[in-house]
Amino acid sequence: MRIDILSIFPEIFTPLYSSIIKRAQEKNILCLKIWNLRDFATGKHKKTDDQPYGGGKGMVFKCSPIFKGIKKIKQKNPEGWIILTSPQGKLFNQKTAEKLTKKKNIIIICGHYEGIDERVKTIVDEEISIGDYILTGGELPAMVIVDTITRLLPGVLQEESLKHESFTNYLLDWPCWTRPQVYKNMRVPKILLSGDHKKIEQWKIKKSIEITKIKRPDLYRLYSKNAEKPIKES
Ligand SMILES: C[S@@+](CC[C@H](N)C(=O)[O-])C[C@H]1O[C@@H](n2cnc3c(N)ncnc32)[C@H](O)[C@@H]1O
Repeated sequence: MRIDILSIFPEIFTPLYSSIIKRAQEKNILCLKIWNLRDFATGKHKKTDDQPYGGGKGMVFKCSPIFKGIKKIKQKNPEGWIILTSPQGKLFNQKTAEKLTKKKNIIIICGHYEGIDERVKTIVDEEISIGDYILTGGELPAMVIVDTITRLLPGVLQEESLKHESFTNYLLDWPCWTRPQVYKNMRVPKILLSGDHKKIEQWKIKKSIEITKIKRPDLYRLYSKNAEKPIKES
């Protein structure tokens, strides 16, 4: 998948060049390109923003650099699905990320300051919010979107590790332990040391259901209504 990001602060994106997302790029599963919005501004000062009509504090991104930037990006990525990061967008979740992995390519526009000239929305396919709070800019939301999508792309992680992750089948993940078996008098549950794979699998799913019921009753209700039931609940 190719993802292009248009931002006024391209230097913010360093976290996308480490760990799993870096490896996805090395394996050519993800092709990531960050574009500097300022490169599409004109005039001596390369101004990308201006004061809002009607008054008020804060600066607003002008249409022109964004339209020009998107035109240039579209030449390289003609099928890019255009996402605008916005607190007014549809709330991002695992299901949205799964849907976005089906897109051929993606282009993300990062807002900043007070926001973006409303006319930019005419070239946007989808507005996405990562939560009901206000961030300084769309750079963190863009990174959240890229990270969440990339780890779902085939070949990035082992399929087995995605199968039981939180939010898959409306459940939270089960708890996990590693060596040593006893630490400060706290023991790893015996069942996990039993070697009985069938029983271990059933125990894990049971724990997953219990944890979801306690921590996320809203999700548990969806599980009860919609999910495939891997085991009978007691
Ligand atoms: C300071 S915010 C603008 C907030 C805007 N004045 C409002 O109250 O709705 C600047 C930019 O950050 C990004 N942003 C802020 N919070 C966000 C969120 N929760 N989800 C997605 N993008 C967000 C958007 O791109 C937005 O244009």
